[in-house]
Amino acid sequence: MTDHYAVIGNPIAHSKSPLIHAEFARQTMQDMAYTAILAPLDGFAAAVKKFQAEGGKGLNVTVPFKQEAWKLASRLTERARLAEAANTLKFEEDGTILGDNTDGAGLTRDIAENRGIPIAGKRVLLMGAGGAARGVLLPLLLQKPGELAIANRTPEKALVLERHFAAYGPLEGGDYARLAKRQFDIVINATSSSLSDQLPPLPEGVFAAGSLAYDMMYGKGLTPFLQFARQNGAAHLADGFGMLVEQAAESFFLWRGVRPQTSAVIAKLKQL
Ligand code: ATR
Repeated sequence: MTDHYAVIGNPIAHSKSPLIHAEFARQTMQDMAYTAILAPLDGFAAAVKKFQAEGGKGLNVTVPFKQEAWKLASRLTERARLAEAANTLKFEEDGTILGDNTDGAGLTRDIAENRGIPIAGKRVLLMGAGGAARGVLLPLLLQKPGELAIANRTPEKALVLERHFAAYGPLEGGDYARLAKRQFDIVINATSSSLSDQLPPLPEGVFAAGSLAYDMMYGKGLTPFLQFARQNGAAHLADGFGMLVEQAAESFFLWRGVRPQTSAVIAKLKQL
């Protein structure tokens, strides 16, 4: 019998998830269907319950519902609990809902496995302190970076994250100005600046020799952040396509117990 999954959000038409999961299902020969659901802004919980009642097995959750999904889940993985957001729901046989957040695992897998850049021992800078940053912090810290700095325009929000995740590794939050004269091996843009073609106020000297600049945004080409990184000595530039496919693979694994191959799917998405 075909198992049903979907991605739910608002808007949803732009989502690449149906294409990615169709590729995964074909490749791993899983009997499943994966569609997209547009939920009304005030109708997320009702749409989830309807999908579950119709026999759906799981959902990916995207903007703006990740926090609502977190609240709706009966149980949470530790990474979802700390992220305070869920991008994956799994409907268990007993009717309960497991909430997970696979974004951070997607990011760290793309950096460490696909690009072969270990995070352990590295000086890591994470820009932004919104939902996107919060979603990746625990998996980043579990990779045991030498240090992890969070920079945000509104420094108080970075300090809140510092306190929230302090037990999990060497973490410090604050503004951008404090980064002057410091260098990092991995600089990750988790702000929404690339959406509006803006550049976070990053000092020029932050890119260490051989460093990686990673923009979690995808489909925007060379963003202002990636251009700035290239001009200021970053050795490797990455957009968010790898993370997008890897977070999907992690959800697929949670649902199906099978880990799909991702490299061909990443290449295909970049071509489109
Ligand atoms: P998301 O869920 O994508 O993280 P969000 O919660 O609205 O969205 O957070 C947006 C993040 O991008 C915030 O950290 C925001 O900084 P502030 O908290 O200071 O507003 C950051 N951001 C957005 N535009 C930015 C820009 N042009 N430069 C630097 N940071 C920016």
